[in-house]
Amino acid sequence: MKVMVIGSGGREHAICWKLSQDKRVEKIYALPGNAGISSFAECVPIKSENINEIVSFAKENRIDWTIVGPEMPLSMGIVDRFLEEGLSIWGPIKNLAMLEASKAFAKKIMEKAKIPTADFKIFDDFESAKSFVEKEHYPLVIKADGLAAGKGVFIVNSQNEAVEVLGKLLKEGILGEAGRRVVIEKFLEGKEFSLIVAIKDGEIYVLPPAQDYKRVGEGNTGPNTGGMGSFAPVPWIDSSLIEKSLKLIFKPLLSELEKNNLKYEGFLYGGLILVNNEPYVLEFNVRLGDPEAQVILPIIGFSLLDLKDGKNIKTYNEYEYSEKKAVCVVLASKGYPERYEVGKEISVKETKETIIFHAGTSFRNGKLVTSGGRVLNVVGLGKSFKEAREKVYKNIQNIFFENMYYRKDIALEVEDM
Ligand code: GLY
Repeated sequence: MKVMVIGSGGREHAICWKLSQDKRVEKIYALPGNAGISSFAECVPIKSENINEIVSFAKENRIDWTIVGPEMPLSMGIVDRFLEEGLSIWGPIKNLAMLEASKAFAKKIMEKAKIPTADFKIFDDFESAKSFVEKEHYPLVIKADGLAAGKGVFIVNSQNEAVEVLGKLLKEGILGEAGRRVVIEKFLEGKEFSLIVAIKDGEIYVLPPAQDYKRVGEGNTGPNTGGMGSFAPVPWIDSSLIEKSLKLIFKPLLSELEKNNLKYEGFLYGGLILVNNEPYVLEFNVRLGDPEAQVILPIIGFSLLDLKDGKNIKTYNEYEYSEKKAVCVVLASKGYPERYEVGKEISVKETKETIIFHAGTSFRNGKLVTSGGRVLNVVGLGKSFKEAREKVYKNIQNIFFENMYYRKDIALEVEDM
C-alpha cells in the first residue's frame, strides 16, 4: 500500500516511523517531510497548505491512504477535497476542523452539549470586551478565536493587562483575522493533560494519555512554545478518569455533532485539565499533538494503518501499560520561541537506546543542518519513566549543534512512578 503523510515536524516523523513498521506499507511519501523522514520515505517538496497540488499528487501517484499531521490543511478542507475525489484520507472535514480553528465555535458546541469547560463570553469589538473585563475577577484567559500557532492564548492578571491584550488583538490586529474575535473565559486551576482519541465509524478509541511541557524554561517558566518535551502514559489518569472523560466530554460531543449531521473521523485531541479530580476542556485540537505523538505512537499496540478500516484498533488500558513508558525531550535552537539562528551543522550519533524524530532539520550541501526552532526529538522507552529518562538524557550527549538548548526536567515529576 502507498501511504502519504502531510506535514514536516516531529509528529509527522513519528507518524511515518510508525507506518514504516507495518509490512502492508510498501511506500511512504511525506509532503513535504524533513531530513529525518527522508532516510526511509520519499519527501516531496509540496507544502501542507497547497491542497490542490497535494490532491493532484495523490491522484497521479495512486496513493491508497493519507494521514494529515497539522491543523492548517484540515481547517482548509483537505479532507473534503480528498473525499470529493474518492481518495481515502484520515482526518475530520472542514466543518469539524472548526473545533480547533474557531475557539468560539468549540465553546458554543460545548455549551450546547453541556461539556464541562470554563464559563466564557465571545466578543468581536473592543469596547464591549473592555466593558466586560472591567467587571470581572482575575485571572482571566483571553483567546484569539482563530489558528495562531500556539500564540493566541493570554492569561491576564489585571484589568490593565486585559485591556492591553484586547487592544492588541481587536484594534491593532497583531494576529490578523485569527484575533479579530476573542473568547474571554474564567481561568481554571489544575493539572493539564492531553487525552487524544481516534474516532472511526462512531467508535472512540482512547490513546495513552500524555503530558506535554509547553513553557520554554525549566520549572515551567518563560514563554509558551510548541512543546519542549512530553511523556506518556500519565500515571494519575486512571481508568475511572478516562471513563469520566468519555462520558462527560467525548460522547456528548459526538452526540451533539450527530444532531447536526456531522460525523467525526480522525484524531481528536482534548486539551483537558483536572479541577478537583473532574476533567474540564481547555481546548480541542483536531489532530495528534506535537510532541505528544512522539511518545504515544511508539507505545501503542496497533498499526496506524488499522485506522483506515477501523479494525484491530486498541483502546488504552492502563494495566497494559504498567511497563511501557515513553519520554521525549525536544532539542531546540537557543532563542526559540523567539528569534533563533538556523543553518547550524548537526552531529548525531544514533544508538539503539533512543529514537530520534526530526523536526526543524534539512540538508545543505549534503550536511544535516538546523532549519527550525524545534530541531530534534529524542525519545526513550522503558519499563519505568526512570529508565526512559536515563536513556534520553544519556543519548543527548551524542548530539551536538551550536546553540542547542533543551530542558533537563522533562518527566522528572514521574521519575519514581
Ligand atoms: N502539544 C500541543 C499541541 O500539539 O497543540
